[in-house]
Formats: sequence, C-alpha cells, structure tokens
Amino acid sequence: MKKMTMDGNAAASHVSYAFTEIAVIYPITPSSPMAEQADEWASSNKPNLFGQTPKIIQMQSEGGVAGAVHGSLTCGALTTTYTCSQGLLLMLPDMYKIAGELFPTVFHVSARAIATHALSIFGDHQDVMACRQCGFAMLVASSVQEVMDLALIAHLSTLKASVPFLHFFDGFRTSHEASKIDVIEYEEIKTLVDEQDIAAFRHHALDPEHPVQRGTAQNPDIYFQNREAANKYYLATPQIVQDMMDKVSVLTGRSYHLFDYFGAPDAENVVVIMGSGASTMEETVEKMNAEGKKVGVIKTRLYRPFASVAFCDTLPKSCKSITVLDRTKESGSPGEPLYLDVCSALLEQGFSHIRVLGGRYGLGSKEFTPSMCYAIFRNMENDAPKKRFTIGINDDLTHTSLDYSEKYVTEPEDRIACKFYGLGSDGTVGANKNSVKIIGDHSSLYVQAYFCYDSRKSGGATISHLRFGKTPIRSAYLIDRADLIACHDPSYLTRYDMLSDLKENGVFLLNCPWGDVDGLEKYLPAKLKRQLAEKNAVFYVIDATKIANETGLKGRTGTIMQAAFFRLQANIMPYEEALAHLKQELQEKFAKKGDKVVASNLAAVGRAEAAMQKVEYPESWLNAENGAPMLATPDDEYFKSFIHPILSLRGDGLPVSTFQPDGSVPTGTTRLEKHGLAREIPQWLPENCIQCNQCSFVCPHACIRPFVLSEKTECPDSFVTIPTVGIKDTRFRIQVTPHDCMGCGVCAHVCPAKEKALVMRPAVELMPSEGRNWEYAQNAPLADTAFFKTTTVKGSQFRQPLFEFSYACSGCGETPYIKVLTQLFGEKMLIANATGCSSIYGGSSPTCPYTVNKKGYGPAWANSLFEDNAEFGFGMRLAWDFRQKQSADAQTTEKSVWIIGGDGWAYDIGFGGLDHVLACGANVNVLILDSEVYSNTGGQASKATP
Ligand code: COA
Ligand code: SF4
Ligand code: SF4
Repeated sequence: MKKMTMDGNAAASHVSYAFTEIAVIYPITPSSPMAEQADEWASSNKPNLFGQTPKIIQMQSEGGVAGAVHGSLTCGALTTTYTCSQGLLLMLPDMYKIAGELFPTVFHVSARAIATHALSIFGDHQDVMACRQCGFAMLVASSVQEVMDLALIAHLSTLKASVPFLHFFDGFRTSHEASKIDVIEYEEIKTLVDEQDIAAFRHHALDPEHPVQRGTAQNPDIYFQNREAANKYYLATPQIVQDMMDKVSVLTGRSYHLFDYFGAPDAENVVVIMGSGASTMEETVEKMNAEGKKVGVIKTRLYRPFASVAFCDTLPKSCKSITVLDRTKESGSPGEPLYLDVCSALLEQGFSHIRVLGGRYGLGSKEFTPSMCYAIFRNMENDAPKKRFTIGINDDLTHTSLDYSEKYVTEPEDRIACKFYGLGSDGTVGANKNSVKIIGDHSSLYVQAYFCYDSRKSGGATISHLRFGKTPIRSAYLIDRADLIACHDPSYLTRYDMLSDLKENGVFLLNCPWGDVDGLEKYLPAKLKRQLAEKNAVFYVIDATKIANETGLKGRTGTIMQAAFFRLQANIMPYEEALAHLKQELQEKFAKKGDKVVASNLAAVGRAEAAMQKVEYPESWLNAENGAPMLATPDDEYFKSFIHPILSLRGDGLPVSTFQPDGSVPTGTTRLEKHGLAREIPQWLPENCIQCNQCSFVCPHACIRPFVLSEKTECPDSFVTIPTVGIKDTRFRIQVTPHDCMGCGVCAHVCPAKEKALVMRPAVELMPSEGRNWEYAQNAPLADTAFFKTTTVKGSQFRQPLFEFSYACSGCGETPYIKVLTQLFGEKMLIANATGCSSIYGGSSPTCPYTVNKKGYGPAWANSLFEDNAEFGFGMRLAWDFRQKQSADAQTTEKSVWIIGGDGWAYDIGFGGLDHVLACGANVNVLILDSEVYSNTGGQASKATP
C-alpha cells in the first residue's frame, strides 16, 4: 500500500477499474472524471485485476448505458458504470431489472442534486435517495479514503451477495476533494477476491450450452410470490458486507461496520448521518466531548439493505435523543428517508423511548460546518427542540431553520490553511491541484484541497481551499480561518471581502501591477488596508500578469502564483525542493501542449521569486479612510437585494423569502452587473471605419454596437461621430460598453478596414470616457435606419440585441448566433434551452442575459433537462399552436376587428376589442406586440382594413 494524493473520483476509478471487464459510460458532472480516467487507462492498455484491458463504451445517454450494462451482465462480463443526478434516474428501470435478476455490479455515484426549480451540478443525496427502493444495495463513503476502501468492499460484496451495489459519495465535496490516502494496490486486492464468486457469476450468464429464459411476463397468480423469492439474498447481504469490511480491515488496518459509532460511550444525544457531513460531525463530536459533553455520531455505511438490528446495536445504551440528518428533500413526505428508516428501526427493535428529531442539510452542496453541527446538538439539549428542521439557511418563511450563529471552531491549531481567489481558466485551480499533489506526495504532511467554482468554464471566480496538517484531515467544509490568502486578480479587491478570513499575522499575496506603496494607497480599498494592519498581516505583491504576458502565457498566472505560494510557505516544504518538483510537474503536465508552452512555464516560475515584493505598509493603514471605492452598485432594488449579495459571494445569507417558489427570475439583468473584467478593450478609430458593422456582428457579448444619430443631436465632445454612409443628415459611431466588454479582441481581429478601425487598449485608460459615452448612447435619440435591410449583416446590427453581456467564455463562437437571432426575432421568441454551455451562460444565477426592448418585449426562456430538450420544445410548440388555434376560432365566431400596429403589421383581434381579447387570454402573443396600439384604443379597438 502506498500513499498518494488523489480525489474521490480517482479513488473510485482505481478500484472499479480493477474489477471491470466492460464499463458502459455517459458523462455527467461531477461523476465524469471516473469514466474519463477508466477510458484513459483502457486506451493505454492498463490491465485490470485479471490481466485484461477493459472495454469502455460510451452510449447516447444514461438510459442507453443502463440497458447496455444490463445486457453485458446478462452475458457474464463484470460490468460497471459511473453516474449521478438525472443520469442515475434515467437508469432506474434497468436498475430494477438488474436487481430483479440478481446480477452483481457496482454503480459508482458522485451524488448530486436533481434539477427541480433550477439545475444544480452540486452535491446532495436527492439522486441516490430516489433509487433506494429499486433493489440495489447502497454503500456510502464519507471521505476520499473511504471511497477507496468502500469501493473495494462494494465490489467484493456484490460478487458474494449477487445483489447489485450503488456505491456513492458526495458530489464535489468528496468526488473533487484531493486528499492524501492509502492506495490499495491491485496485487493486494487480488488476495481478497474469491474466484468461486466470479465463476458463479459467469455460470449465471445466458449461455446456449446451458440455456434458461429470463425476463418472462408473469400474471397476477405468480408475480408477487416470485418477487418475494429473492428475499434471502437481501437478508444475507448485511452480513456479507460486514465480512468483506472485516477482510479489508485486515489488509488496511481501517475498520468499518454497517454503522459506525464515534463519540462518548455514555452519550445521551446522538446524530445519525451519512456522507461527507459525517466527517465534520465526527470532528465536532470529538471537540464537544473534550469539553465535557456526552455526544456521539453514527455514520451510516450500508444504507440498503437497512440493517435495523445492527443500527440499534450500534447505539450507546445511554442514548435518549437522536437527530437524523438527511441531505435530501422529499416534499410532502412525513420525513426524509434516513429519518423514517431510523424511526422504523427504533420502533421495531423496542427503542421507542428514544426521541427522534429530523433535519435537512447541505442541499446542492450547501456548506455544513462545525458551527451547524454544534447548533444541532444544542437543539437536542432543548426541552422543546425543533423536531423537523433545516440547518445552513435562514428560512424566514416557514421557519424551519435552526440558528447556527454561535461560531464553533474545531480545527487543530497546527494545521495550515490557505485560500486562493482565481479567475476561471487563469490556471489557479489546476496549479493548486498540482501544489497539493507535490506536498502530499513528497512530504509527510496530510493534505486536502477543495475548489469552489460555478458551472462556467471561464470568467467566474474560483476559490481554492488548501489544508496541510500532521494528522488526517476530516474537515469537509470551507476554510474560514486562513494562514495565507492569495488574490490572483486585482479586480477582486473592489468586489469581495477577502481578508475577513485571514488569521492574525497571516500572509496576503496579491497579483497586481502596483509595486509601490503609493500605487497600493490608491488602488486598495480602505477596508482592506485596515484589515491588513489590524491583523498585522505579512503583505506581498507580485505582477504575475506581466510575467505571464512576457513569457507567452497570456494571462495564465496560475503557475507563477503557485511558485510565489511555495516561496511564502517554506515551512511546508523547502522552496528549492518545491520548485524542483514544480518544474518536473510542469514538464509532464504541459508536454502535450508542446515544448514552447513548457518552456514558457519554466521561464515564468523561474521569475516568480525575484518579482515578489514585501510591502512595508504604513501604520496609518490601521485607520485608513481613503482608497479605491468598492464596485458601484446600481440603484436597482432587485440588484441590491438579490444580485449583489450573490455576486459578492454573500448568497449563503439570503433568506428563503428572497426567492420565487417556482425559481423564476426577471430577464434583462446582466446589464446591471458592470463587471469590468476586461484588461484591454477596443478603441474605435473613426477615420479608418468603413461602417460595415462586422465588429458588432461578431461580438459574443453584444458589447460593441453601431449608433446612428440625427445630425442635429448635441453630443458630448468625446462622443465623436462620422457622417453615416447611405443616410443623409445623420452621424455614425461605434460604441463599446467598457464595463461589460470581456476583452476578447474578436471585434478588433475581425475589423476588415484597411487600416484597422479598432485597436485593443488598456481598459483603465479608456473606461472612464467610454463608460460615459456608452451611457450617453443609451438614451440618445436614434435616427431611422430602416434604409438598411435587417436581413443583412450591416442592417441586423442596427436592431437591439435582446441577448447581451452574457458570461459565455470570452470570445465564445456560439453566442453571436443567439444574439443575431434575438435581433431578428427576439420580441417574439420562446426558448426551450437544452442543458449545456448555452444554458449556463444563458441561465446562470444571479443574472439573465436575455433582455427586453423599449416596449418590454423579449425572449422568454426555460430549460428542462439535458436529456429531454427536443421533447420539451415540442411541448411548448404544441401548446402555442393550440392557443393560437383557440384564438383564431374565437375570431371566426365573432366579428373580426383588425388594427394596424405601429410596426406596420395588421392584427386581427376579434370583435370585443383589446380588453375582451386580453380577458379571454386569447391571442395574447399578438396583442403584446404593440403597447402603443393598445393604449391608443383605450380598450376599444377601432375597425381597420388590413
Ligand atoms: N500554461 C499553459 N496553459 C495553461 C496554463 C499554463 N500555465 N494554465 C492553464 N492553462 C490552460 C489549461 O491547460 C486549459 O487549457 P484547455 O482549455 O486547452 O484544457 C486552460 O488554460 C484553462 O485552465 P484550467 O486549468 O481549466 O483553469 P483553472 O485552473 O482556472 O480552472 C475551472 C478552471 C476548473 C474552474 C473550470 O475550467 C471548470 O472546469 N469549471 C467547471 C465547469 C463545469 O463543470 N461546468 C458544469 C458542466 S455540466
Ligand atoms: Fe466584444 Fe470582445 Fe470586442 Fe469586447 S473585445 S467588444 S467582448 S468582441
Ligand atoms: Fe468600423 Fe471595423 Fe466595426 Fe467595420 S468592423 S464597423 S470598419 S470598426
């Protein structure tokens, strides 16, 4: 057995690959890396436990995967798959079949939320809980080490029990957490496998040499009895699992039971939980007991079959009160599943004197911290506790939530915790993964790395949480007391409160272009200066962006900041040693990107140490009042109450009453963000411009637009215009919105003018004037541009885009098409959006890039699932056609009235006038097209000939 640093997905892949002859896969976040890893190994002919290369097949969907897994098992190949969320639910019908026909297999699941009012790619147990009734045994791992161990136990048990297993662990929290663990080698695994189990499985396969028929149709006379005939397998399973746990324990020294109790032997208050929350609960229980409390926690390992006797045997005899925590929600149920199971076990086994409370926590990867664990025990100490509660949110609507404001800290003092604020795709996450691997694999320290980011592939904030310690790290929650905080993007200084989590005497490392105190005086916000001084922080700056650009890394600052981190944390690993490992890793990591990329990285990290400067900030910072203002918030109630808290990383504090119960949000809100992310923006050189509008056409973010104003319009001096080609007495200008521009440079690249009419310039220089020009253009009286056909590239760009400032990756090639679609048809658009990039940049909370025109019309948008997009859109179409027919029928039975809309179109609105038609709900899609017409009629439609 060797120690290695890996994440939960890698640990599951390692074990499952050993037992796999065929893996049938379909990617879904956050389980995809398990399948990808297996695929990579198979491509390089890595042998499984039996010396063969497994076959990895990707299907068209998870439904297809489940069918193929079933077929493969039927014919006797050791088969597995990896999935979660909707993907797992799509497999359900086949899972019933696989269980019903008693096939051994293991499905490894990085448990994830299910799309309900919104999609969430993050972790909870809603998906696996929806499978608890299908006949799969369910084994839960609560840490990366447990994933390795329990994956093995699952594979060994399924072969012995002939019952299929679902082995799950928390999506992201465990699947993506890197940790230093003991890796069980294949040679060691081999010693635990019973060849006879495999032979029995092969014999169970369909085989013309000893044929049977399976999967028949049965009638009311026999189906029920046959369903009960398999009971003995489920009755035997818990003991088989325990036997396998014991075997693995002999090998590894780590012991597992169906339920594991941790805490005071005479505890009165006990929590029952499963998944990563159990580790945090364990850490809290340890501290509380050290302080003289009598508390304990039961970690559920085998959830199905639920072994009631084993559960009650695990309880300390002194137990008076239990709280069962479920990481799922079943609306309308009398209790969440684990709570109900525990209630039933206690009742059945004669423990009805124990009081049972139930709580929900951690949905969609909501944090679960020691303070929350502590509040749960405090609730149990109450004579009148909350019986059914939520924890981790503020439910000011139905008042389910427990207060957890009392801070409870459980981490050992000698642990080192570091936080890194990066910008999605600047390489920060990749570099930090690499750092923990270096430290984990080349020192005696235990490591843990966890990464917070949203669903976007680039441009969003990424926060890396790294811990290093002398003892195993159980803290499955984010760092809120850091020894080092690094800010990789200076724009965060005025957006986030980064330093409230920094410990006294901690280190702050900032990537910025200001190396002297004067620059820092000007560009650091006053609050940040005070925090540095109050905490007596050690403050370093480095211009990593400059180094990255000079060495050809184009803003990828991750590895440079990584070298700076190693320099500052020399007490973790000597700098020279760390740098040597880093260089070695860079050569391996970027080898497939070519020698040039490797060389650039080596050159960049080599410059890091010399470029770092310690800032001797003045004492006056203790009372600093001046500095850069925090990012301005627009005077908009919705922005202030909903968007801004989320954008400034304070969304956890939003109470339940903030939200629409159905999850709907208003459109047209990206315009409020004004993120100012671009380092360079285009400057328009009017003398070179040929007025082709191609820059506007290609801009993925709708940030550069043509404006045509009447000759007589008074403009600010900076709002330079040129005569419009083709329309007399008008002036033309190309205007960028500097605070929305992503700085991709596509507009400048595409500009076909002989002498480029757009050049990319530093944003700081242009932002003030261009910001004012953009504001002016928004309300300037525009001239009529009907002369240019809207079906041409040029003409289309004079129409307002109803899709703007999306958070698509900078320079996205997809969004210009959506934008032009909205320019042509936007005010009559209904969108059934498939799940994927377009739903992430099109519908990621908290803002919406689809917007409305001056009349208030614009695209209406909805997303169902990845798996049912065509059908969802088809349903929308059916309903719309039906409503149009209804409306048409109403009009033919009544005397028709036509009105001419302001846009020149004729509308038949029926005899009763607009009010009548609106009241019937008929033909509303047509009526809303022109509010001017409606107001002019005063509710009495005038008769007109089309
Ligand atoms: N030298 C050269 N190239 C570098 C580099 C360096 N020093 N550092 C990074 N890069 C490259 C990477 O190789 C990668 O290139 P690729 O796109 O060709 O693979 C690119 O720059 C981005 O790097 P990455 O490591 O991804 O950036 P990051 O460390 O900031 O991490 C993530 C960004 C991981 C947060 C983001 O990419 C992500 O995956 N977000 C989640 C998306 C998601 O899961 N959505 C849900 C789908 S349902
Ligand atoms: Fe649009 Fe990119 Fe040009 Fe900015 S740099 S205006 S985002 S094309
Ligand atoms: Fe002018 Fe260049 Fe834009 Fe064409 S692409 S309108 S030439 S700035």
